[in-house]
Amino acid sequence: MLPKNVFPISTEVNSQNHLVIGGCDTTVLAKNFGTPLYVFDEITVRQLSRDFIREFRDLHPNTTVAYGSKAFTNKTIARILLEEGLGLDVVSGGELSVVVHVGFPLQDVYFHGNNKTQVELEYALKHGIGRVVVDNFYELELLNNVAATLDKVQDILIRVSPNVDPHTHSHTTTGTLDSKFGFPIETGQAEEAIRIAVEKSNINPIGIHAHLGSPIFETDPYSTAIGILLNFARDLTKYGFQLKEFSPGGGFAIAYTRDQEPPSIRQYAQSIVTALIENCTKFHLPTPKLIVEPGRSIIGPAGVAIYTVGAIKNIPNIRKYVSVDGGMGDNIRPALYDSKYEAVVANRVNDDPEEIVTIAGKFCESGDILVKDVALPTLQHGDLISIPASGAYCPSMASTYNLNPRPAIVLANEGNTRLIRRRDTFEDMT
Ligand code: LLP
Repeated sequence: MLPKNVFPISTEVNSQNHLVIGGCDTTVLAKNFGTPLYVFDEITVRQLSRDFIREFRDLHPNTTVAYGSKAFTNKTIARILLEEGLGLDVVSGGELSVVVHVGFPLQDVYFHGNNKTQVELEYALKHGIGRVVVDNFYELELLNNVAATLDKVQDILIRVSPNVDPHTHSHTTTGTLDSKFGFPIETGQAEEAIRIAVEKSNINPIGIHAHLGSPIFETDPYSTAIGILLNFARDLTKYGFQLKEFSPGGGFAIAYTRDQEPPSIRQYAQSIVTALIENCTKFHLPTPKLIVEPGRSIIGPAGVAIYTVGAIKNIPNIRKYVSVDGGMGDNIRPALYDSKYEAVVANRVNDDPEEIVTIAGKFCESGDILVKDVALPTLQHGDLISIPASGAYCPSMASTYNLNPRPAIVLANEGNTRLIRRRDTFEDMT
């Protein structure tokens, strides 16, 4: 049976037992666009965007949902998010250039990063970026100088590290003391940053930001961190600092496997807004504007990767390797974070599982395994493997390792498709 919890909202199985996304038979898409292919379901992107806005604004109307572009962005996706009323978080001049290109209102864009370059900051300020989220002392100086040269006063948030462990992979844990991101509260550096920022004439600190990590399958780390952050904020009025904006970042989890049940958007919203309001009351602070930054939880469930089976190697009593035409070049997550995924045969969705196999990629590394030990019908070359929950941090972290061309991406909706990224060609590799 199709594990519905990991597939896009529009997913169906047609009378030919084929996987259908956005009203499009994925076997036809594979024929028309080739594989590996990433299929994004437009309905899912739009629905999850609306769900985030509704669930947070129901509880705290003054909320901006700023999509974490790093999960995956391009011009088409940015336009959809703009239509749905989201803001954006960007972490590079490249991501910002997409925003500028589609005419996204820059006042709703937050520029993050632990080492923004002078060129990036100049680019951001020239285009009128809404907020720069300042990460360190070097950046405080650099940004103030860039703003002074451009004769601007830039609104900023200060990124602080509350030292809360969100219980996720160490590579994606960001709000603990030993992290490259943000000013730690515990060492006094966060307070020092506020004091300096208030004194500078070309930057205007209006809020604080923290991002704990990702994906976070619990709501408690958010409430704990918010308590610490607001306790910190209440002491800052002595510097003339007022907390007008507050962000606990993103990191909301999604289901990657059939047994995973992350908190709902409503549960995240309840826990964050309750902690915000309770702590503001406790510390006599006016309730600030809230900014949340979901990336994965909007784009992740929308994307499905489709691969074609090629070589099959059976090592009796050990393992059967089924190799597909993509792998770590388009999805580095299993190799990098030991991430688990489901696999479903797209051209025979409801066939009964017959054996346990391992889905391997085509890259020249033993670690290039997409899904280990998955129960599937007996596979043959030419079968299509779909891997759901692949919308976030797969195409966006893709590489041309081994000079394999990166996959095409199509957006599917009501039986129509749009190629939103063409497949790399061999010529691109030269
Ligand atoms: N805000 C900030 C400041 C962030 O650094 C991130 C993610 C987000 C928001 C969005 O997090 P999300 O809601 O997408 O979880 N490559 C890793 C994830 C790295 C996340 C980096 N920062 C992965 O594949 O799991």
